[in-house]
This record gives sequence, structure tokens and C-alpha cells, in this order.
Amino acid sequence: MTEAVLLVGGQGTRLRPLTVNTPKPMLPVAGVPFTVHQITRARDAGVERIVLATSYRAEVFAEFIEDADLGIEVVIATEDEPLGTGGAIRHALSHLESGPDDPILIFNGDVLSGLDIAGLVRSHVETSSDVTLYLTPVEDPRAYGLVPIDEHGRVQAFLEKPSTPEEIVTDLINAGCYVFTRSVIEQIPAGRVVSVERETFPGLLASGAHVRGVVDTGYWLDLGTPLAFVQGSRDLVSGIAPSPAVPDTGEVLVMHGAQIAGSARVGGGTSVGRDVIVAADATVDGSVLFDGAVIEAGAHVTGSIIGAGARIGEGSVLEGVVVGDGAVVGAQNELREGARVWPGVELPDLAIRHSSDA
Ligand code: GDD
Ligand code: MG
Repeated sequence: MTEAVLLVGGQGTRLRPLTVNTPKPMLPVAGVPFTVHQITRARDAGVERIVLATSYRAEVFAEFIEDADLGIEVVIATEDEPLGTGGAIRHALSHLESGPDDPILIFNGDVLSGLDIAGLVRSHVETSSDVTLYLTPVEDPRAYGLVPIDEHGRVQAFLEKPSTPEEIVTDLINAGCYVFTRSVIEQIPAGRVVSVERETFPGLLASGAHVRGVVDTGYWLDLGTPLAFVQGSRDLVSGIAPSPAVPDTGEVLVMHGAQIAGSARVGGGTSVGRDVIVAADATVDGSVLFDGAVIEAGAHVTGSIIGAGARIGEGSVLEGVVVGDGAVVGAQNELREGARVWPGVELPDLAIRHSSDA
């Protein structure tokens, strides 16, 4: 039996302007909580049991898996205090049923990918590795864990979030999915905070453990920032990112009860939540409209997230913006790249312009 640990805890705050109450992995993306895309992909790759490792809001996850019919056994391991990535994996150990030599998949809970999951596990088992890391090349690796490998795929170092130019020795990064042989997890100290990236991986390398990297150049995205979140949603809706939980891909995903005026144009992989209203002559492109959002007549929304129940006034222009749950952007405002309207805030009509006077 192949088991997996899905890391969904930690204190990520970068989506904070949007998500006041919902844990990030439970935010709906392309119609279902983000975590469902990961769970169903793992299921389809032959994973039979998943441990959701969280350090907060465990009840939200518990309620969800009780009701959801995901076709796979999902259990929850809750840390009393966040134990870090390595600490969370160690804590999840007692919830695993595999034997000491079995492969355990670990997934970061905010990554969307086209990885051949079964292939990664196979490669791990065939080479009797201690750890096998899924690696992907990125243009700017500074925000990630750098993983240089030799010509045989053997990992030479693990450099988490390098701070000096000298440390940028490769464009290959830890893509947020790896396989541990179960007995190797037992070596992680229990009951304290451990970073798998800063402590466990470097420690294993120093002790001569067999750590390999498998490069996959297919689809990969970390949804940690609002703009990446919109991108991920767009890619799922339009089918660029693979997910068994999105059966019908296309220009737009419209949830039950949404009303889109005939003269409105909505596309570019936009996701339209339940009971959303898009009024006459509005355009919405490559955006996420959460449940109950209202886009009034003639408004233009591009590459933005509009929170649940938020309202965008007539003729307003939003580009690369996050509007929190229940916020109101009055008519004729212009908000661009990077603007964040906090949940519940109300901007009056004609409050902000965001372009040059030329
Ligand atoms: N249960 C639990 N407890 N989960 C945690 C904790 C914790 O204390 N801390 C972090 N996590 C989870 C997060 O929810 C996330 O799913 C995952 O661990 C990784 O944490 P992030 O905070 O998203 O890390 P990152 O994106 O900066 O870097 C990580 O991912 C990169 C790829 O996206 C690292 O693993 C990098 O090496 C990697 O390149
Ligand atoms: Mg991340």
C-alpha cells in the first residue's frame, strides 16, 4: 500500500487579505477546495491512504473529509503547535500503516503539478533510495529550496532559500513532493520544530544517505501568493494544469446559481462562484470570483481575486488586485497591480485612480 502525507499546516500569511477564516488548502480553486486537486491526483496515481498533517483549523479539514466522497481514505494528524515541515512529517508517522521499508510520499499542500507521481515512487523503490526528491527547473530559484544533483541524479546539497549569489548553483528546485523510506522518517527528532529543508535533508546528505533527485519539466506552480493563486485557478479551469477534479475544462467555470448578463464577457479561465452576478457589459478575464461576488455593469476585472460577497461598482477597473470577502469597491475606481482591499472595507465611488495623468 502506498501512503502519503499532505502538509497543510504552517502559518502562511501571504493570502491573508483574502482568507480570513478558511485555511489556504481549503480555499475553493476551480470549484473544489485546493486540497482536492492534490488528493485526487495522488489517488489516481495509486496512493491508497493520505494523512493530512495540519497545525491549525483541523476541524475544518475534519468536517470536509467526513462529507466528501474522494474515493480514498483520508485521516488527519493535528499538531498542537506548528512543528515545521520535518516535525509535521515526524508527527504524522504514528498515523501511517506502512512497513519500515515502504515508500511514503510527502506533498507540500500548496503545489499544483503534472508530476508522474507513480513514476517517482517507482524510481525511489527501484534505486533503494532513502529519499527521492521531485525537482523542477525555475527561472528564479531564490524563493525555493535549491537542489544540485550529479549526472547520476544523486543530490549534492540542499540549499533552502539561498541568500547569497554564490549559493545559486542550479536552477533545479525542490518541487514540494518527495518520497521517504518510512524508516528514514523515524530518524527525524520527535516533539520539536524541525525543518525538513534546513535540517533533515542537509543532515541526511552529511551522513551519506542515498538521496536522489528526479527532474520533471512538466507543469508546476506554488500557489503561495495571490497572483500565483489566480494563475493556478486559471490553469485548472482551462486545462493547462491537470486535475481529475476538473472534468470539464474551458474558458470559464460557472458554479450553480451564477448569473452572467448576455452582454458581459467572461473568459480566460475565469472561475465564477456560486450565486455570483456579472452585470451587463462587464468583462472578467482570467480571474477568480468567489461565491456571491457582484460585478456591476461595465466593470472590468482582469487577473484578480474577488472575495465572497464582495461588490465591484459600475465601471471600475481592476487588474492584478485582491478584494477581500465582503469588501465593496464603489463605482468608477481604478485599482491595479498589487492593490489589496481588506475584507469588509468599503471604497466609495470615485475614490481611487491608479494611472498617470498623461
Ligand atoms: N503540518 C504542518 N506544520 N505543515 C506545515 C508547517 C507546520 O508547522 N509548516 C509548513 N507547512 C506546510 C505548508 O502548509 C506548505 O504546504 C508546506 O508545508 C511548505 O511550506 P511553505 O511555507 O509553503 O514553504 P515554501 O513554499 O516557502 O517552500 C517550500 O516549498 C517550495 C516549493 O514550493 C520548501 O519545501 C522549498 O524547498 C520548496 O522549493
Ligand atoms: Mg509554498
